[in-house]
Amino acid sequence: MIDFHTHILPGIDDGSKDMNMTKKMIRMELEQGVDRIVFTPHFYADNDDLARFLSRRRESYEQLVESLSEDTDFEEIDISEFKLGAEVLYFPGIGSSRCLTDLCVEDTRVLLLEMPFRKWTRDVYGEVRDIVEKQHLTVVLVHIERFRHYQKDLSVWNEVLELPVISQVNTECFLSWKSRRFAYKFIKEGHDILLGTDAHNVSSRPVNMAEGRTALKKKFGEGILTEIDQLSDKLWRNDES
Ligand SMILES: [Fe+2]
Repeated sequence: MIDFHTHILPGIDDGSKDMNMTKKMIRMELEQGVDRIVFTPHFYADNDDLARFLSRRRESYEQLVESLSEDTDFEEIDISEFKLGAEVLYFPGIGSSRCLTDLCVEDTRVLLLEMPFRKWTRDVYGEVRDIVEKQHLTVVLVHIERFRHYQKDLSVWNEVLELPVISQVNTECFLSWKSRRFAYKFIKEGHDILLGTDAHNVSSRPVNMAEGRTALKKKFGEGILTEIDQLSDKLWRNDES
């Protein structure tokens, strides 16, 4: 089971504030059956520099690996089950940006894209299409459930979703009736989804993979989880077939 969207790396963004919290979050992941984690700190092109971001992320990750290797409570951890990634906020020009491959999930061409929190325009659509068609990256639209209500009409929304993109839904979305309604409808419409906890801490935005999956299974049966796991595994392995 893979968690594709997390803010677990310590001290790098608005997620885990220190190593202690990071380890608690990893423990929560393990207890909930997650055995592969993608670390996806925020990348904001407007106020971050790619090289600086990559070195901060590397440093944070190396500290984590060192700390886990010295901790007898984490002897079962296999770091080959971790991958580095980023949650990249949309910016004008992203379609032709040269920095995207460095921000993809490690050893893949999978880019986690955070769309703009406003009505999507034709320009936005064009940039996403360029990422897919010109840069040949697999785009994952993170927490898709957060963007629907900004769309006064659905023309661009529909166009974006008709591209060969994959949508990621936060597991938290399945825990309240209001957000659940959107997610269930979205799944029924036939969209492929990935799950991510988007966990930021251990209290207000915790790891809730198990609860989310339980709700999904109750609604759609075990088959939906199998489909999600197969798609997640395919992306993890960078299988483009
Ligand atoms: Fe996130």
